Amino acid sequence: MCGIVGFTGRDQAKDILVEGLRRMEYRGYDSAGVALEAAGADGAARLDVIRRVGKVSGLASELEGYAGQATCGIGHTRWATHGRPSTANAHPHTSCDGRIAVVHNGIVENFAELREELQGRGHVFKSDTDTEVLAHLVEEAYAERGELMAAVRDAVSQVVGAYGLAVVCADEPGVVAVARKDSPIVIGVGEKGSYVASDVIALIDATRDVVVLEDDQFARLSPGGVEYTDAEGRPIEPAVTHVDWDLDMAEKGGYPDFMLKEIHEQPRVVRDTLVGRMTATGELDIDELGLSLEELNDIDRVYVIACGTSYHAGLIAKNLIEGWARIPCEVEAASEFRYRDAIITPSTLVVAVSQSGETADTLAAIRDARIKGAKVFGITNVVGSPVARESDGVIYTKANKEIAVASTKSFIGQVVSLTLLALLLAQVKYRLTTKQARMLFRELGDSAAQIQEILDGCGPAVREAAAACKDARSALFVGRGMGAAIACEGALKLKEVSYLHAEAYAAGEMKHGPIALIEPGFPVIAVATKSPTYDKTVSNLMECRARGAVVVAVATEGDDEIKKIADHVIYIPRIRDCFSPITASVPLQLLAREVALMRGCDVDQPRNLAKSVTVE
Ligand code: M6R
Repeated sequence: MCGIVGFTGRDQAKDILVEGLRRMEYRGYDSAGVALEAAGADGAARLDVIRRVGKVSGLASELEGYAGQATCGIGHTRWATHGRPSTANAHPHTSCDGRIAVVHNGIVENFAELREELQGRGHVFKSDTDTEVLAHLVEEAYAERGELMAAVRDAVSQVVGAYGLAVVCADEPGVVAVARKDSPIVIGVGEKGSYVASDVIALIDATRDVVVLEDDQFARLSPGGVEYTDAEGRPIEPAVTHVDWDLDMAEKGGYPDFMLKEIHEQPRVVRDTLVGRMTATGELDIDELGLSLEELNDIDRVYVIACGTSYHAGLIAKNLIEGWARIPCEVEAASEFRYRDAIITPSTLVVAVSQSGETADTLAAIRDARIKGAKVFGITNVVGSPVARESDGVIYTKANKEIAVASTKSFIGQVVSLTLLALLLAQVKYRLTTKQARMLFRELGDSAAQIQEILDGCGPAVREAAAACKDARSALFVGRGMGAAIACEGALKLKEVSYLHAEAYAAGEMKHGPIALIEPGFPVIAVATKSPTYDKTVSNLMECRARGAVVVAVATEGDDEIKKIADHVIYIPRIRDCFSPITASVPLQLLAREVALMRGCDVDQPRNLAKSVTVE
């Protein structure tokens, strides 16, 4: 996940920038860089840009030999989204004349159009990033306006997307220009000068009184202080917030653990994963597709191969791929698939789903599938990971670095990405019209706001349900259709963070065995949202209730009937059944975390588990 830091003042900027970048390392990154304002031999200011792939420590070693005396600069840690991890793609990015440097968090959605226009006007690009357009836009605006803040305002007014932005210009020494829209920026003034960062952790040693910049606000940092303006350049006086977090809390953005922080990032993950994926004319735009539409049209069988949570995302995808595209789809644990002789032909598509992109079984399975002639498509969170490299095409889940061992936000990113793939296959197979695809895409995007609603509102109901489950020895998760897949992920989440045994079952299968487990007080957690099989699920729950189960239901807002059957109801907003996993999974993540905390477990680092499983 990218990090921004900037400083201007009375001390060596390089040390302050490096320390700020170090503080943000926990967020994950693949490259780091700084731009320092230094005086050239003629005394005129220039920008020195130093970037490296790899750790901040590598950048720090390189900077040890830096002889410039810069007291102003900007720095960045990059988690690749547009363009692979490389020195050329690392920030800061510079204008053609090298006199303007920018660091940016967020996504410039219209970067392709802007880049083409800028190239048409003679700008030469040195990277594959969306960010570089900002450097060139500021350069053009600066040539016209002759003032950095005005140039930054002009530049961002042309941008569609999200940005946290810090800019320096060799012709305005000592000034850092800052802008923000939908990407966090904090600013503070300390004894040594003025600081900006995307994460409060980078500046709490200098000051604990910070301004959290709001959307469409701008700041001009100079050694003496900060001037704030609105989008028209009018002065504003933003509120100052006192931060009393310790370092540990600051890393977690004020949340008590990474799991909760990452659960709360899910609305952003949905939005970022969808950004720029549909053209104005309703075609899906998957820039890393790697397969021609003809090749996709030839696909007559899909295998989704994955492990753990990623496998559960696959279960959801099966319903969508078969339902929309009408292509037979099987979902298999990679550890099984790799050792069996699956039927693979050149018209088979193997979809590998892996947060880390390096799970040993998943990798082995796709290598084998390629040898057998399958087309391979990766869904991963890590740019340049082995799964990405060894697939014909890839969709990145844009979850950013996930730190908690239990996957939450990357699962949601996987489900959204797989939904895009299913929509694409359906369009290519002429099973969905452009109009239908556009409508579904819009509704998919609406799920971001619905997750937010759940996060804002379901706390009390989740805690009540967790209290009812925490002392159980075992729990059953049930549902039908999409609900059955969601139940699988709910059970895994509970197991891994709370060590409470849980099992997921298709609700209709209960009476074929598992119902024997039910005794008074046994928790049955049901995904009972409105769906074509809602009534059947309700009947199954009545059977459990009749035998003394404590029923917890995730249900659709406005469903009062469910209260007669369930002891605890967690309501979520109404959503089309095909998208219900994106929202209904969220209360189950929260439930697992709550039960775990009540049982005294470490939710971020459950025992015996590793974040990425690179051995068989
Ligand atoms: O990196 P991957 O998605 O390939 O990892 C697969 C599983 O190891 C992973 O999903 C695991 O089940 C998580 N602990 C789930 O929370």
